[in-house]
Amino acid sequence: MDIIRVKDYDELSEKACKILTNEIKKSGSSVFGLATGSTPEGLYQQLIEEYKKGNISFADVTSFNLDEYVGLAADDPNSYRYYMDEKLFSHIDLPDEQAFLPNGIADDPDKECHDYEALIKDAGYIDLQVLGLGLNGHIGFNEPGTPVDRRTHVVDLDESTREANARFFNSLDDVPKKALTMGIGSIMESKKIVLLVSGEKKADAVKRLVNGEVSEDFPASILQKHNNVILIADEEALSKL
Ligand code: F6R
Repeated sequence: MDIIRVKDYDELSEKACKILTNEIKKSGSSVFGLATGSTPEGLYQQLIEEYKKGNISFADVTSFNLDEYVGLAADDPNSYRYYMDEKLFSHIDLPDEQAFLPNGIADDPDKECHDYEALIKDAGYIDLQVLGLGLNGHIGFNEPGTPVDRRTHVVDLDESTREANARFFNSLDDVPKKALTMGIGSIMESKKIVLLVSGEKKADAVKRLVNGEVSEDFPASILQKHNNVILIADEEALSKL
């Protein structure tokens, strides 16, 4: 795992933007895996700026998001589809039909997961996957205990994850209990992974990610076994290494 140490969140977003921008310039038709949450917001802002300056186009890019809450429709402000539209998609030229997220209100969630895997395969798998890190080591919504070969599947969210995400909802009760997520097996098939971590509250998780044993109890630890992972972390996040 390559570690890029940056001063702060702004520098983290700039570095990540540079990596994605280079990927687009190199191939044009990149397949990106994208994350939601607080961490990639700065990256998305920077990508929008690059697009507006005319430095990059997303016309031939395809994107697959990691996850979506079960029960939330695209027009629900807490859905990840809504987040992506607000924070990135509506500001760039990525065609709607090339921007995929699991459908949180699919009639048959298991079939939705199966179909999502097929779409990723048809696109030639993910060239560059952006990840954030959960406090409990989750990646996507793969909570501790998830087998490392799982494909896209339906998960019961950990209470700690629901509590961490309650900040976006009116109350903890409003946070869905289930989600659809790309599996660890799907994530590990990405050709390159860029993991973004910022802030002191993630310092213990980063320490376990880098120095801990590879274990299903801490899903992100499996990334130690991927041959092309770049961890971009700020000084606070790296403070316990
Ligand atoms: C989001 C996702 C999650 C987040 C993680 C960190 O699509 O898959 O794994 O990346 O929960 O979230 P933040 O960035 O809000 O700390």
